[in-house]
Amino acid sequence: MKVAAQDRYGGPEVISIVERAKPVPGAGEVLVAVHASTVTLADCAFRKADPFIVRFFGGLFRPKLDVLGDDIAGVVAEVGPGVTRFAAGDRVHGCTGASLGGMAEYVCVKESAALVKVPEGVDLIPLGGMSYAYLTAMPFIRDEAKVKPGDHVLINGAASSVGAMAVQLARHFGAEVTAVASARHRALVERLGANHFIDRQSADFTHISGAYDVVFDAVGKSGFKDSAACLKPGGIYLTTVPSWGIFWLMLTGGRRGSKRGRLATTGLRAETDKLKDLHILNRLLEQGAIRPVTDRTFPLDQIVEAHRYVEREVKAGDVVVTMPVAEAPLLLPGGGQQAPA
Ligand SMILES: NC(=O)c1ccc[n+]([C@@H]2O[C@H](COP(=O)([O-])OP(=O)(O)OC[C@H]3O[C@@H](n4cnc5c(N)ncnc54)[C@H](OP(=O)(O)O)[C@@H]3O)[C@@H](O)[C@H]2O)c1
Repeated sequence: MKVAAQDRYGGPEVISIVERAKPVPGAGEVLVAVHASTVTLADCAFRKADPFIVRFFGGLFRPKLDVLGDDIAGVVAEVGPGVTRFAAGDRVHGCTGASLGGMAEYVCVKESAALVKVPEGVDLIPLGGMSYAYLTAMPFIRDEAKVKPGDHVLINGAASSVGAMAVQLARHFGAEVTAVASARHRALVERLGANHFIDRQSADFTHISGAYDVVFDAVGKSGFKDSAACLKPGGIYLTTVPSWGIFWLMLTGGRRGSKRGRLATTGLRAETDKLKDLHILNRLLEQGAIRPVTDRTFPLDQIVEAHRYVEREVKAGDVVVTMPVAEAPLLLPGGGQQAPA
């Protein structure tokens, strides 16, 4: 099978497509024929080991996790002994878990992992990037911000993967949403439900005074000090990106006066919590309450270009990488065929 692997840390060019043996599912594992995965800024951080702390997870001197890809959408090709939750032919989406490996034609995933069946009638390919966006945005909007009807929520980086999902979730929870993005992304974020729009290149949202219950910086480009001015008394600032400023704030009580600030590390949540949230995601998809937002799709053999594009930080929504099987029928056990999703 083909995988996108890297034998050293560095720029996008360290990744190449190589042949590996197709894995065999062990007890309690499913073998997924991956149709789509995604490239995110987090993948770029792992690829180049920047920030340095990545090396404690990915390998100190060389990448031990040499095939990236935590988020997948695909079809179960085989199940290992003892698996009851899935059967061959099931369309699935979710996360591979700490061992990554999703940027490949096949990957083994534990049955207990954050993996769920795809609801009837939902396209498979766009889901390749959706679990990342959703599993990041949902804990921020629901658990940290506790968004409720009537809240005024500002989302900075509203067209990013995480931001585009946060706009949809905040609207789903009944908030009035102000989206901050570049003008070229205005139509998109308004289609996703934003009530108000600020063009970040012609206005600075941090100059607005006391207007928001929640400021969610989905791209971590602002700081608590500047953004706090926009918050109403009792409001909360949330960011996805670590900085000395937010660490210091959290170490010293997490608030200045009545205004609070927090960083959450959603990627490190327990698999069981992610799994519960993927079931909720399925219900939201079925209701049409949220939808995936795909910026571009790259075939696997253009993985280097996909990394270069993501690193430019200009995308709107997700970059999806498709595997060769997504272009061809899948042979099912017993000789049947499944059309590409
Ligand atoms: N805390 C966690 O556990 C966790 C989990 C997952 C991801 N993350 C982090 O979350 C961040 C967002 O990830 P993502 O995948 O959603 O990002 P992304 O889709 O790659 O972000 C691209 C967007 O960034 C916007 N942007 C670029 N520079 C900006 C600036 N100076 N101010 C405001 N917006 C700017 C662009 O918007 P416009 O072109 O519209 O300006 C573009 O739409 C990443 O840093 C990622 O590492 C954290």
